[in-house]
Amino acid sequence: MDKSELSLSRRDLLIAGAASAAWASAPTDAATPPASGPPLGTVPASRISLEVNGTAHALELDNRTTLLDALREHLHLTGTKKGCDHGQCGACTVLVNGERINACLTLAVMNEGAKVTTIEGLGTPARMHPLQAAFVKHDGYQCGYCTPGQICSAVGALDEIRRGVPSHVTADLNAKPMLSAEELRERMSGNLCRCGAYSNIVDAISETEGVRT
Ligand code: FES
Ligand code: FES
Repeated sequence: MDKSELSLSRRDLLIAGAASAAWASAPTDAATPPASGPPLGTVPASRISLEVNGTAHALELDNRTTLLDALREHLHLTGTKKGCDHGQCGACTVLVNGERINACLTLAVMNEGAKVTTIEGLGTPARMHPLQAAFVKHDGYQCGYCTPGQICSAVGALDEIRRGVPSHVTADLNAKPMLSAEELRERMSGNLCRCGAYSNIVDAISETEGVRT
């Protein structure tokens, strides 16, 4: 490519950039739909069914709704927390068909027909899940914001160990992983706690499985 072609390419690029910026900032006219995409004022929506904590729900949702927002904003199950909304903190961890998942990273429509378990489905204040009771006993929280995600994640992590799913610290990939504090720390590393209650969290999870820390 010679120099004149290069400068022409740059000029074309600048013109194209300016044109798209002008289009984006132009006032929109509801009577004039854009050349592509859905008409203004409408969004692509889907009807989906979810079983959440044993109860069937039929929902009509904007296709862009995450499972986290479906749970919190549409089903009002606010036990599941929104921390980063970017898959980085684990506060939104729930169980989908028995597997732990970051609910902020999956669209609700992708989970059509799934069985979802949130912290509200694990236990109640009167009848706590053993992990909930252990978190209380060991002070596995301070502010408690990360705790629902920690507990749902721990349920999933313990199930993975029982099923023989190896982790980054599993020494022998051909043997069933040992239920150790090291395995628990590794498997819970996707669940951040800004209060730093980590050692108590490991103690709580360990106690439910008889692991020595
Ligand atoms: Fe989903 Fe942080 S809110 S990982
Ligand atoms: Fe506060 Fe974990 S208890 S963020």
